[in-house]
Amino acid sequence: MIIGIPRETKDNEYRVATTPACVEQLTEGGHRVLVEEGAGVGSGIPDREFETAGATILHDPATLYNNAEMILKVKEPLPPEYAYFRQGQILFTFLHLAANRALTEELLRQEVTAIAYETIETDEGVLPILVPMSEIAGRMAVQIGAGYLESHNGGKGVLLSGVPGVRNGEVVIIGGGIVGANAARIARAMGARVTLIDKNPARLKVLDDRFGGDITTLTPIKKNLAEAVARADLLIGAVLVPGALAPKVITREMIRSMEAGSVVVDVAVDQGGCIETTRPTTHSEPVYEVDNIIHYAVTNIPGAVARTSTYALTSVTLPYVTEIADVGPIQALKNLPVLRRGLNTYRGKITHPSVAESLGLSCTPPDQVLA
Ligand SMILES: NC(=O)c1ccc[n+]([C@@H]2O[C@H](COP(=O)([O-])OP(=O)(O)OC[C@H]3O[C@@H](n4cnc5c(N)ncnc54)[C@H](O)[C@@H]3O)[C@@H](O)[C@H]2O)c1
Repeated sequence: MIIGIPRETKDNEYRVATTPACVEQLTEGGHRVLVEEGAGVGSGIPDREFETAGATILHDPATLYNNAEMILKVKEPLPPEYAYFRQGQILFTFLHLAANRALTEELLRQEVTAIAYETIETDEGVLPILVPMSEIAGRMAVQIGAGYLESHNGGKGVLLSGVPGVRNGEVVIIGGGIVGANAARIARAMGARVTLIDKNPARLKVLDDRFGGDITTLTPIKKNLAEAVARADLLIGAVLVPGALAPKVITREMIRSMEAGSVVVDVAVDQGGCIETTRPTTHSEPVYEVDNIIHYAVTNIPGAVARTSTYALTSVTLPYVTEIADVGPIQALKNLPVLRRGLNTYRGKITHPSVAESLGLSCTPPDQVLA
């Protein structure tokens, strides 16, 4: 199979969807890999390293998209890239379609076989490709939030760790999955007080066992949410319903109750955000204010630490890329239920129930379209 890796186009996105080691493995398996010129530079990988591994470097993205049977990316294609779509092309990347009607319509119109990293799901409900990116985003959420709490960044001037004789700051985390647990870990390591709220009691038990008495865990009843948000210096949104638009767990009224200069980092923004006042931002313009509360809602947080993220991401995508390339997309989707759950669009139909429901469109299950 011919696999194409374009240079990412999203604002300040430095990750790349493959590494020289992955290219070597794919070319040894009899596949051809096309890499757009400069695609790896942001991750510290010069073109010549891809070439040495067996890739062909292409200057022009149109040629790359035209020749590749499978396009391997990191982030969702942006509107200028829609023109490169064509019928039957395999697109394997983060897509977050529930929050992106325009891209969904284009994938349907052009009959692209779109497999979304974030909805690849094991029988146990684990999202193996999202996990490493969520680990990174969860850890970064605290270091980013700590920076915006500094006065010169518009924040209220709170040091999360406190100092002897002065109370430490409070971090409130909504959603205790991968992002939430990693944010809790860093916040605790910094010395902050941590309250974590999740709707899944079994998950709260796991976290309570993991952190002992070091963090407070709560269920998301309205009183708990309102009281926790009101006293938060840093509020982190980390809720997910796989494939679906995030529920707005935190209302504007709750945000208004926070002290001026407090900070919101809504990591769940890629699925629409779990905070009513969230709207997507970029690394170039990462923050805005609502009711004197600083909001940070960058949709590609791990892109800022590409030398870590590229290797974390490609190590989990490679097995699926290899299977799709080796046996073809239809057989790979039939062979692997975990990959099949990642199928979002196929031959002009939406194939993921939560994506379809979020967009108010109908769903044709993968088993039916692949039959
Ligand atoms: N902005 C970025 O750059 C970036 C990077 C990585 C991940 N993310 C996003 O972060 C979000 C969280 O990802 P994750 O991997 O931690 O997901 P996860 O599935 O591991 O965890 C989500 C948690 O939310 C909880 N939850 C669901 N509905 C809830 C509700 N109504 N109230 C309280 N808790 C609720 C679930 O029980 C679960 O524990 C996702 O939207 C993911 O795409 C964003």
